[in-house]
Amino acid sequence: MKQSKIAGIGHYVPKKIVTNHDLAEVMDTSDEWIRERTGIIERRYAERHKETTSTMGVEAAKIAIERAGITNKDVDFIIFATLSPDYYFPGAGVLLQRQMDMAGIGALDIRNQCSGFIYALSVADQFVKTGMYKNVLVVGSEFHSSGLDFSTKGRNISVIFGDGAGAVIVQPTDVKNKGILSTHLHADGEYAEKLAFINPGSHGGAFLGTEQYGYPEGDFDSIWLTDKIWADKDIYPNMEGQAVFKMAVQKFPEVIAEALSKNKLTSADIDILVPHQANLRISQFVQKKLGLKDDQVVNNIQKYGNTTAASVPIALSEAWEAGRVKDGDLVCLAAFGSGFTWGSALIRW
Ligand code: ACO
Repeated sequence: MKQSKIAGIGHYVPKKIVTNHDLAEVMDTSDEWIRERTGIIERRYAERHKETTSTMGVEAAKIAIERAGITNKDVDFIIFATLSPDYYFPGAGVLLQRQMDMAGIGALDIRNQCSGFIYALSVADQFVKTGMYKNVLVVGSEFHSSGLDFSTKGRNISVIFGDGAGAVIVQPTDVKNKGILSTHLHADGEYAEKLAFINPGSHGGAFLGTEQYGYPEGDFDSIWLTDKIWADKDIYPNMEGQAVFKMAVQKFPEVIAEALSKNKLTSADIDILVPHQANLRISQFVQKKLGLKDDQVVNNIQKYGNTTAASVPIALSEAWEAGRVKDGDLVCLAAFGSGFTWGSALIRW
């Protein structure tokens, strides 16, 4: 069986910078609160009505393709991870495919939120290892600012998230012990509603009770979006921040330890850790637990906030551009988020 490697990487962030002070103008929050609790100073917002999740994915993909030394025509499969797709269906993968003139190849959408990129990378790794594909384009992209609650009610979530995209090309390699060494994926649906965007959806109150949604009587009425859901503005993501935090600080070290143990390595072997940018305090906790130095952990949440499926590839791409990821380095990727889902990948660059 072949090994796979990341042959090209790129990222795109929109031009518009939104500071904590900008948010404090529209909701009851402060720069101090946001910095202290999350580390975030500013984030980027996509240009409404012009940019979308898929167009940002295209920009990141173009760079990854060029850096891999291939053309669009060489890509033989697309994997697109996002929780904020342009349309409910079809997925963002086919929209990217249309814009990049790649008609005919398969396009798979991944819905694993903050762990989306690592899940997508793992799927690409399996396809390449088995010889099925040779140039898999993996994209993570989010347009969070299109659907956040910018009133004070939504402040615990809306201050955290930002927009952007990252992409990689996954190719086979014959060089032994190079490339993706292993990936590790986990989920626990018990916590599904702790961090979720519930409406609109087909659930019909099955898990949470029907009363709060004001469903119509008829069997042939749509239960996706009721007048009551709309009137109550029950159409935004919700999060139990502390529950997410508690589980994240447990699962990040656990899934990194799993990857190291599988490869008979220890945390002392890690050259650079690229954690999902959920909260600077979470990353600092993980860093301490692993005994890593500041320059061994990539943190860019200060500039971009949490970009969910895009955060790992944006952070990896920036670190690579800055010369922080060098040939032969042991790179560890790790993520935790809604689902709950979590995962890790170890890469010998
Ligand atoms: N500005 C000012 N005050 C706020 C804000 C805000 N933006 N948001 C919440 N508060 C208030 C709350 O109302 C609460 O006030 P109260 O004490 O009067 O009731 C107080 O601050 C404390 O609220 P908590 O939610 O307990 O604050 P906490 O210290 O837990 O920080 C945070 C919240 C930053 C969200 C934190 O819990 C966190 O980072 N959790 C993890 C989130 C995460 O990692 N998500 C990643 C996955 S994302 C994905 O998968 C899509």
